[in-house]
Amino acid sequence: MWIALLAAATCLPCHEEFVRSYAKTGMGRSITKPTAEVQLRQEGAHGSARWVAWWTGREIAHSVNDEAHAMDWAVGSGREGKSYLLRLGDALFQSPLSWYARRRAWDLSPGFNRDRRLNFLRPVTADCLSCHAGESAPVLGTQNRYADNPIPAPGITCERCHGDATIHVKNPLRANIVNPRRLPAVARDSVCEQCHLGGSARVLNPGKTWSDFRPGMALETVFSVYVPKASADPNRIKVVSHSEQLALSRCKIGSGDKLWCATCHDPHREPEDAFGEQQAKCQGCHQGTKPHGDACTTCHMPRTESSDGGHTAFTDHRIRRPGVPKVLLERSDELRAWRQLPEAGARARGLGLAYAGAGKLDRAFDLLRGLASPDAAVQDAMGLIYLRAERPALAVAALAAAVKADPRNSVRRLNLAAAYLAAGEAEKARAEAMEAMALEPLLEDAYALMAEIEPRRAEYWRGEFGKRLR
Ligand code: HEC
Ligand code: HEC
Ligand code: HEC
Ligand code: HEC
Ligand code: HEC
Ligand code: HEC
Ligand code: HEC
Repeated sequence: MWIALLAAATCLPCHEEFVRSYAKTGMGRSITKPTAEVQLRQEGAHGSARWVAWWTGREIAHSVNDEAHAMDWAVGSGREGKSYLLRLGDALFQSPLSWYARRRAWDLSPGFNRDRRLNFLRPVTADCLSCHAGESAPVLGTQNRYADNPIPAPGITCERCHGDATIHVKNPLRANIVNPRRLPAVARDSVCEQCHLGGSARVLNPGKTWSDFRPGMALETVFSVYVPKASADPNRIKVVSHSEQLALSRCKIGSGDKLWCATCHDPHREPEDAFGEQQAKCQGCHQGTKPHGDACTTCHMPRTESSDGGHTAFTDHRIRRPGVPKVLLERSDELRAWRQLPEAGARARGLGLAYAGAGKLDRAFDLLRGLASPDAAVQDAMGLIYLRAERPALAVAALAAAVKADPRNSVRRLNLAAAYLAAGEAEKARAEAMEAMALEPLLEDAYALMAEIEPRRAEYWRGEFGKRLR
């Protein structure tokens, strides 16, 4: 807890109550150093791999077969669960094992069930930490390299919702600090959406990074979120985030901008009596409604038990009559922007990149190919589409343009290397792959591609990667 207090030390002298109670919330403790929080030793198997999680007396450790690591950070306050991060060299990776608080058990981290391989090599990208940490320090252009102090502010800080407070601290006025409640509705909602609206794809505007958003902006100043397109029947669509679900409720449709996340949630404290407090919020609008049973949320916002750490809301935010059927079908393949960008070119770019990210390459191609001035992200996506379509010459042209625009991006360099290889230009492929490796020594795919470029030295390249890990 002292870490969270320290993060808000500048606010402490004047807003002590806020700082103290916020430090106890899930958001205030969203990332921590692993301590003795979970001491259960447990073993398990996945395919032919055996895993163990245990407390060494000083650290939380995980092992898969013969490989063991001490964990460096815990992501998640533990309300629902915790995932663990480890640092290898200057790169961050996610452990394949997570703690599930409600089951009180260790198990595979979300997504690893589908993964054939159980290892410690899933990269922790900047967008993961942009939602879970107050502040992180990714090396731009790399997949998962970070500065010496990778997570300078582990818990979500006051500034993530209130903006830069330097001037306010020196000369405290209401006018020189952002209060989300006073913002226009779009900017207000964006404060929570920056983290609570994962969507099917999130697409950065040209030249922006995940850390560019500031409270007071509309989300779309920095990035756009793409969500499954609603079908005629809102129950036929699987919406996972709180924001998407709330938008489908009659309460939200009927109240418009009046209703938002902080109508029901005080972000600065854990509710002492969540049900009672929520009931009072409901009755704030439904004054005429006599209590017809237990707490309102028991029947109108039931908890779903199906999800297991995969970022699905536990409490159904589609506030509705209990009789309404709860058919959750597969996610729709059709995407739409959560909020539409004003300019047609930017709209096509965003949606096209969202489809490319979701693997819908035909849709992506149709939207992206007509763009007048494609930026590096678009060139990269086009290159990959051409590569998949076995048109290596076009792939090389697009990817070379992407690399030229952004020479320090390791993954784009590697994509170019793959295109050169497909085009039969092994020497150039080798040069680009080596460049990618120099930018990011733990980029696993670079070693795999080198093994393809130099089949006779395949063993060497695999060994080389193993060496770098140690
Ligand atoms: C030196 C004392 C001081 C410090 C330090 C300080 N504040 Fe304030 N803050 C105030 C005062 C006083 C007000 C109320 C001003 C008023 O009512 O006119 C205020 C008001 C606010 C408001 C309400 C604005 C509104 O529109 O209602 C927010 C939000 C806020 N502070 C956040 C912060 C955060 C976050 C920090 C730390 C990064 C911080 N403050 C540090 C003194 C301080
Ligand atoms: C910087 C990212 C970020 C922002 C901004 C953010 N949240 Fe969160 N929020 C999270 C994360 C991460 C968690 C999960 C915390 C944990 O590990 O339990 C969370 C948890 C919560 C919870 C569950 C209770 C708790 O404290 O854990 C509520 C309620 C919540 N957020 C509401 C809001 C509201 C309302 C806003 C906007 C005013 C907001 N959040 C803005 C990231 C964020
Ligand atoms: C778009 C923002 C976003 C991204 C990206 C994201 N998360 Fe989350 N995560 C959240 C929010 C918000 C919550 C809490 C509420 C919820 O489940 O929606 C959460 C919940 C969690 C929880 C459960 C926390 C608890 O205390 O119960 C874990 C563990 C977690 N995330 C791990 C991760 C990891 C690891 C990554 C990256 C590899 C990641 N998340 C990527 C926003 C995000
Ligand atoms: C997850 C987002 C979030 C975080 C983090 C957050 N706040 Fe707030 N804060 C809000 C929102 C939203 C409001 C407006 C609440 C309302 O009035 O509905 C607010 C209001 C305030 C106010 C004005 C209260 C009033 O009665 O007018 C102060 C002071 C404040 N916050 C201080 C802090 C401090 C200090 C921290 C860090 C310890 C902090 N906040 C962290 C979202 C946040
Ligand atoms: C900001 C005001 C507001 C708040 C807060 C609010 N509601 Fe509503 N709610 C509305 C409005 C407006 C409607 C739509 C009325 C209509 O369409 O006739 C509505 C509709 C409903 C309906 C009918 C849904 C349907 O499918 O017909 C239920 C049930 C409901 N609310 C329950 C709740 C519960 C439970 C809470 C608290 C968790 C709550 N509301 C909080 C404004 C609100
Ligand atoms: C009408 C009231 C209401 C509104 C509006 C609302 N919530 Fe909730 N929320 C609840 C209730 C009730 C719970 C369950 C009890 C609790 O955790 O306080 C909950 C729980 C949560 C949780 C904990 C995880 C879970 O799913 O149980 C998160 C995170 C959260 N809400 C985020 C949000 C965000 C983000 C918004 C805005 C998009 C929002 N909520 C809007 C009532 C509301
Ligand atoms: C035991 C379950 C239960 C509880 C608890 C409950 N409701 Fe309901 N509520 C229902 C059912 C069932 C209906 C649908 C009745 C119908 O379709 O005619 C309903 C309908 C509604 C409606 C829409 C119908 C109308 O009156 O316009 C609102 C609004 C509503 N409830 C609000 C609330 C509020 C506010 C609370 C808490 C004070 C609450 N409910 C508690 C089961 C419950």
